Amino acid sequence: MDLPGSLEKREGEIFIGGCRVEELSKEYGTPLLIMDEKTIREKCRYYQETMESNYPEFNIYYASKAFLNLGICRIIEEEGMGLDVVSGGELYTALSADFPADRIIMHGNNKSRRDIIQAIQAGIRAIVIDNEQELKTVENIGRAMGSKVPVMLRVVPALEAITHPHLQTGMGSKFGFKMHQGQAQKALKQVAQSDSMEPIGLHCHLGSQITDVDIYHQAAEEVLKLAAQYRNVWKKELALNLGGGFAVAHSAAEESFPFDRFLPGLANRVTQLSRDLDLPQPVLEFEPGRSIAAPAGMTIYSLGASKEVDGLGTLIPVDGGMSDNIRPTLYDASYYAFVVNKEAQERPRSKVTITGRLCESGDILIRDIELPQSKPGELLAVTCTGAYTYPMASNYNGLPRPGVVLVNNGRASTLIKGETYEDLLQRQEIPAHLQKEKDQYMAL
Ligand SMILES: Cc1ncc(COP(=O)(O)O)c(C=O)c1O
Repeated sequence: MDLPGSLEKREGEIFIGGCRVEELSKEYGTPLLIMDEKTIREKCRYYQETMESNYPEFNIYYASKAFLNLGICRIIEEEGMGLDVVSGGELYTALSADFPADRIIMHGNNKSRRDIIQAIQAGIRAIVIDNEQELKTVENIGRAMGSKVPVMLRVVPALEAITHPHLQTGMGSKFGFKMHQGQAQKALKQVAQSDSMEPIGLHCHLGSQITDVDIYHQAAEEVLKLAAQYRNVWKKELALNLGGGFAVAHSAAEESFPFDRFLPGLANRVTQLSRDLDLPQPVLEFEPGRSIAAPAGMTIYSLGASKEVDGLGTLIPVDGGMSDNIRPTLYDASYYAFVVNKEAQERPRSKVTITGRLCESGDILIRDIELPQSKPGELLAVTCTGAYTYPMASNYNGLPRPGVVLVNNGRASTLIKGETYEDLLQRQEIPAHLQKEKDQYMAL
């Protein structure tokens, strides 16, 4: 199971990043997403340092979609990495944190004209083109702006990663130019011949939560073969971006990606393939998201009163749920959890189901987990929640989105303030014809 590196027990109490979890709950309230800075940095360094010792030219982009905010941008920049963004909003966040534009690439299967113009104006490293229509749009916008737009093509080899169908981005998904349908080959020629686009590489992302190492080797081979086929058209060194997707173990039922020797092995393979195919050695790129952010995160909730339900067993609600973590509802994601300061208590334990507090029967956070006896008000910590939780949070049922704190060396700093009820209404207006007289309104 992947846990934050700084999670520890001192004299019967749980600490993360040197901060007492119970104290964090008092200061910031619950639910609260706690991010361990040490874990984020260690994960980034793993990618950077392993590539540094195994491959001449490389780029690691953190996949912002996993978890993005101004503070995370600063950490990623300090670690020397790039960012992959999928919208003008993510780009705006990165630029607002003074993230260097030339380390950013932009994805998306339906980028707006505004996204594209914003990306070109900012001078990002590359727009990753997803489809034929977008190729034309980028070409036209580039021409109108008098720019030679650096682009990569998102190509899709006929490879299907074993993962949840919602996390697959291979053959049958909405993303990219399919190689087996000849779309990638056609796009390659168009880009190479364009006067307003500068091809810098080929991109391929197979999906998320993948544990199979071989599929990355196969993808490298397929994409480099495609590059070799068109070497006379592109005529220069290209980047080979193999995306992200490296699995983490959110619970004991899941496996982490077998990182041992993965990057060195793949680096060797790409070197060998480029030799065999007589291609210049590509710049090798990856876009990990989950494997950096997920293990760093731990969400704490306050437990509510339990309820026995025929057929479902003992249900214990928490003060959040699908509004702060929709993954279990969206694709049956599983999690590990423990009752704070009671986690070592082996017996008595009983099987319970942790539900959320939202008005949906599907709002179940963890099914059938063994926990020690707990009382309402005690804290439940759910681990490995740093990725694809907060970015998908909502205000369903009028729940304010929780706060996010960054912990390190005994210091807790706000990354994102928890929302208030006032925040819920901040962008709402009562149309003039529905307004009440002021005093009538105030009397309510
Ligand atoms: C294009 C692209 N790159 C990178 C990622 C990051 O994947 P992960 O968070 O599984 O590493 C994603 C996520 O789906 C993606 O769509």
